[in-house]
Amino acid sequence: MIRALPGWALRTLDLPTEAGKTARDMDALHATLISVTFAGTLVVALMTFYYIVRYRRKREFETTRSLVASGKREFIQAGLLLSMFLAFWAWGYAQYLHIETPPDHAMVVYVSAKQWMWKFSYDDGQTSNDTLYVPEHQKVRLVMTSRDVIHSFFAPSFRVKQDVIPGRWVNIWLDAAEPGVYPLYCAEFCGAGHSTMLGQIHVLTAEEWAKWRRGANPEEMIARGREAAMKNGCLACHTLDGQRHIGPSWSRLYGSTVKLQGGATVVADEAYLTESMMDPLAKLVDGYNPVMPSYRGHLSAEDVGAIVELIRSLKDGGGQEPTIALPKLVVEKTGQTTETKP
Ligand code: CUA
Repeated sequence: MIRALPGWALRTLDLPTEAGKTARDMDALHATLISVTFAGTLVVALMTFYYIVRYRRKREFETTRSLVASGKREFIQAGLLLSMFLAFWAWGYAQYLHIETPPDHAMVVYVSAKQWMWKFSYDDGQTSNDTLYVPEHQKVRLVMTSRDVIHSFFAPSFRVKQDVIPGRWVNIWLDAAEPGVYPLYCAEFCGAGHSTMLGQIHVLTAEEWAKWRRGANPEEMIARGREAAMKNGCLACHTLDGQRHIGPSWSRLYGSTVKLQGGATVVADEAYLTESMMDPLAKLVDGYNPVMPSYRGHLSAEDVGAIVELIRSLKDGGGQEPTIALPKLVVEKTGQTTETKP
């Protein structure tokens, strides 16, 4: 099986460089599919030519012979072609699942698109515009949203493209093996500056990456999330230590299976958490009242990312971390008499 395309083939086919294994695998399928299609077309063309010569009309008033096709042979031919198509489907479907499923333990970068730039927020609190920095040999999950219109994150060297939609968070992941600089495009017409919405993906060596990370504080994003949650009143209803309140606690929420009203369940991932901030009534948690307002337009993309990061940091429970004491006032408002001890 072809593992990857050599440089001359990439140039001939006008394909971008391959940044990692995902791109190489996809090119292997692409090349095989095209080669088989070309070979099939060639066989059909040659046979057509042969038949034209072999069975041409030789005399006037010559009639066409009546032929009855062998059912068995037709069955075998159709079966062979079908199994070939199914093999391509299975190969492509496996790749599709691979691309659509971000690996566990991938590094997370939050991406916010707006007219006409890309903004990247890293888990250590750093940000960058239009240039995404990732370390080599590291799988990177991008959690993306748009501030205004639909954009499309297109990194041809990684063979990935994903629409970025306002009010929703979507996932994509990059498989970066080789250090280098790869182009990033917006592939959805998003207004007058669409063609200028260009970026770069810098895959850094371990050494360069350490330099880029230096000085960054890994707790910064979580701290920002806590600050945003306090400022926006989230903590008036959600606790960080697992106590039940007006809304579900954020402790041990991330990655858990949430039971919804109506009996359905959902896994609390970035997409669900974000949807719950933007459209709280879309998926109501069983046993809670529909009292949460929408935060669409009130929270910046970075704050949403930071709050999700805070919730993620609590996935194994709040630990020894001092809980923000539940204000008594809020407890009284619900009419409950339970005392809460800070
Ligand atoms: Cu953003 Cu086109």
